[in-house]
Amino acid sequence: MRLAPFASVLFGAVAIYAAVPAHTSPTLKEAFRDDFLIGAAVNRRQFFEDDLRGVPLIKAQFNSITPENILKWEFVHALPGRYNFDAPDRYVAFGETNHMTIIGHTLVWHERTPKWVFQNEDGTRVDRETLLRRMHDHIQTVVGRYQGRIKGWDVVNEALNEDGTLRQSPWMKIIGEDYIAKAFEYAHEADPKADLHYNDYSLEKEPKRNGAIALLQKLKARGVPVTGVGLQGHMKMDWPTPEEEDATIAAFAKLGLKVMITELDIDVVPATQKNRTADIAQNAQPHAESNAYADGLPQAVQQALAKRYADLFAVFLKHREVVNRVTFWGVTDGDSWLNFRARVNHPLLFDRSGQPKPAFDAVIRSAAQGAHATETKP
Ligand code: G3I
Repeated sequence: MRLAPFASVLFGAVAIYAAVPAHTSPTLKEAFRDDFLIGAAVNRRQFFEDDLRGVPLIKAQFNSITPENILKWEFVHALPGRYNFDAPDRYVAFGETNHMTIIGHTLVWHERTPKWVFQNEDGTRVDRETLLRRMHDHIQTVVGRYQGRIKGWDVVNEALNEDGTLRQSPWMKIIGEDYIAKAFEYAHEADPKADLHYNDYSLEKEPKRNGAIALLQKLKARGVPVTGVGLQGHMKMDWPTPEEEDATIAAFAKLGLKVMITELDIDVVPATQKNRTADIAQNAQPHAESNAYADGLPQAVQQALAKRYADLFAVFLKHREVVNRVTFWGVTDGDSWLNFRARVNHPLLFDRSGQPKPAFDAVIRSAAQGAHATETKP
């Protein structure tokens, strides 16, 4: 049974979302208990329990965690043959103590991989066999260490260009197209029971989505052990539309894959550069635009963000048979990578002081509405 939302007010047909005190509302993980896991990306200060504001929220609201950074190659394996598991061990212990589904992010990515991985000692480029051996060693060591404890891995991250072709990363250039299949095979060998995901952003855009579908079809046809696709979900206020999100989830579900929303956030700050209109007045003031909400989010925008989250969660709920996790990329607004270049952004459900925003109320309400829609199905 789902819990009713608290303190949401309806004026006519327009929902007003309230800033509900968290302790008087159902939690996110309770509200979506019958639908999907609710996750958060956590940073070092959180799983070391130094972040006194974030930690209680994580424990109360979420039943899955993803490490925002510490399992990336440059952190865990900065030097040849030298692994540092201090932070990853704490991360996994934090998840286990709190009975959470623990995710690993990420094994093979063109970013955050030290240069030495692709080079010989003299600085020349390694050959295919050497790079495959290094990839195997890394995956075997990292995945093997947490076998049976990390439930799912983002095995390959962001392998596609915007036009759906394969990115010419060092992995691709040195090994060739089958580096992706190899990464999944090695991960499966290291933990045969782990869920193994392909993870990428902007898959809602048709050319990239089609490229991902073709790639995943090919992998599945070859028997490569890929079990799911992660739609990162770094969204804007006007993109993707709920219809695009709906079509994207449906397209991947058709492949027989589990779908996860792995890095959800919504950038509310108006475009920093390259305004999408030719409005000279706007273009002349890039600084004002880029930090428009430095003093806080105006009520109207709070409501618009809440409505935006409600619309997206309605789509996720529609596909709850295939969507098995929705993970936010951060806990409070202050944690978000979207505060880059000193922008003050407001992309998540909890504000900088850890208070739930109207968007939290909207998401909780969407769970109740999803339940109602199911109950009234003929
Ligand atoms: O740990 C160092 C610290 O020692 C140093 O003093 C400090 C100075 O800048 O940098 C710290 O590293 C930073 C790291 O985050 C940890 O805080 C890096 O500079 C910074 O670039 C890095 O950014 C992360 C980014 O990925 C690149 O790895 C973001 O936090 C993280 O949110 C972001 O996450 C990615 C996903 O992994 C993949 N999908 C896109 C998503 C958003 O970009």
